[in-house]
Amino acid sequence: MKSLRDTFLEPLAPLILDFRLIENSDNDLLRKWKNKNRQSFFYREIISSSEQRSWFIAYEVDPLSAMLIWTPDEGECGSIGLRRVANVIEVYNVMSWCEATRGTGKFLISVRGLLLLVSEYFPETSIQTSVLHQNQAVQWYQKLGFNKVELLTHESGQEFILMKFA
Ligand SMILES: CC(C)(COP(=O)(O)OP(=O)(O)OC[C@H]1O[C@@H](n2cnc3c(N)ncnc32)[C@H](O)[C@@H]1OP(=O)(O)O)[C@@H](O)C(=O)NCCC(=O)NCCS
Repeated sequence: MKSLRDTFLEPLAPLILDFRLIENSDNDLLRKWKNKNRQSFFYREIISSSEQRSWFIAYEVDPLSAMLIWTPDEGECGSIGLRRVANVIEVYNVMSWCEATRGTGKFLISVRGLLLLVSEYFPETSIQTSVLHQNQAVQWYQKLGFNKVELLTHESGQEFILMKFA
């Protein structure tokens, strides 16, 4: 069984996808946009540089997790995280931040291609994501091919929608 990380390191993957695995030097970029978009996520606190570094150290040794930067022609324009939890691949940290691409549907097409590839590599797993109930991104995920599964309450008290990639 290939780990998620191995899958993305395969030589062919960078040729067909506008994504690359994050490196240490991406931490500032990720932190900046995660903090700007924090109302969209479960964790609402401002993330400090040292917290970001600690997260990266733990991420680096976790073979079941892959954090990717989206790199269309316009630049480094977004992120998406994939982590395997039992028989599920969870999608998280999804953000798109370039003016030139936002709302054009480009990110949606790239992410759909990525998830179709992931479902081909890992046919026995389901791909899921959890979206805060009030986040308009629910509709974006539906356009992408996710269906709503159920409305749940997070331990923090926030309501969220569990969605599954069909
Ligand atoms: C959700 C997000 C990733 C979408 O990125 P994007 O680059 O704007 O999206 P795309 O250009 O690929 O998609 C465009 C399509 O999705 C729709 N769309 C884009 N953002 C949307 C949003 N926030 N809510 C509803 N629909 C949205 C557009 O209307 C468009 O559809 P159309 O062609 O029918 O008009 C972006 O808004 C974002 O980073 N949001 C903040 C972080 C977030 O909420 N992440 C998800 C956490 S679970």
